[in-house]
Amino acid sequence: MNDSRETKSPAAFVAGYPIKHSRSPLIHGYWLRQLGLAGSYGPVEVAPGDFADFIGKLKDGTSHYCGGNVTIPHKEAAFALADRRDDRCAELGAANTLYKAEGLLHATNTDGYGFSRNLDERHPGWDKARKAVVLGAGGASRAVIQALRDRGFTEINVVNRTVARAKELADRFGVAIAPHPLSALDEVMQGAEFFVNTTSLGMDGEAAPPIRFAGLAPGALVTDIVYVPLKTPFLVQAEAEGMATVDGLGMLLHQAVPGFVLWFGATPAVTAELRDLIIADMESHA
Ligand code: ATR
Repeated sequence: MNDSRETKSPAAFVAGYPIKHSRSPLIHGYWLRQLGLAGSYGPVEVAPGDFADFIGKLKDGTSHYCGGNVTIPHKEAAFALADRRDDRCAELGAANTLYKAEGLLHATNTDGYGFSRNLDERHPGWDKARKAVVLGAGGASRAVIQALRDRGFTEINVVNRTVARAKELADRFGVAIAPHPLSALDEVMQGAEFFVNTTSLGMDGEAAPPIRFAGLAPGALVTDIVYVPLKTPFLVQAEAEGMATVDGLGMLLHQAVPGFVLWFGATPAVTAELRDLIIADMESHA
């Protein structure tokens, strides 16, 4: 049971440094209103040096929070400091969701779930593909690789500027992962049915290098976990070459669902209205 929920209306946080750009308060605030629930979800800026103390208070019950999300740069520390970790976050070495249950602080990671659920909704059947290309080998890439492996992809090609990082992921996730340098990208794309960008390339109006999507298999899907802008340079390029595309905003929305259920005890819906709310917020800050 959620300890705080039994006594008073639950309060959840999103902790990061910086935190002011997080859209999670908008998402959870929308769901709390929509479901008519008593509860709150707010941003907390926690400097790296203060994070252990913040978690300590959560663990010993001094904090009024029942749990929350953690984002950059706290995902690894949250994982390390929790009392219990599920298999999903243990494999990633990073947590994005914390919750109290029976006096203990539990950690999980919902990024891979959000990634898959977004594609289930916007491109059903996406997981019938077997050969994938993942651009990038950072923290975000891990959750994506976990999701692809869990959905049965048997050839996951990880292409990264620093090939050693792609090799590290191959060691972590096993035989289905093949590491490659950026110079191999064109060749690796040949016949692949799925392409995902997990790097920051193309974010916030930055230019992205051209990629030749034409070598992908007919009917291939191209997606990007960057969602600012909604149509990233990679998605624009892929559409111009006739590929199906899915933007990354739905990953953000769907990854929030399991945390909401854990803290507030009701299952929220990812609606078109919620998506429009976040898009309007992005446009107002553009
Ligand atoms: P995150 O947790 O968001 O994934 P990260 O761990 O810093 O962040 O990883 C960023 C990813 O973007 C990495 O794959 C990085 O490549 P390197 O491992 O070689 O650093 C990739 N990346 C960032 N800027 C890049 C650039 N200009 N060209 C190519 N890859 C880039």
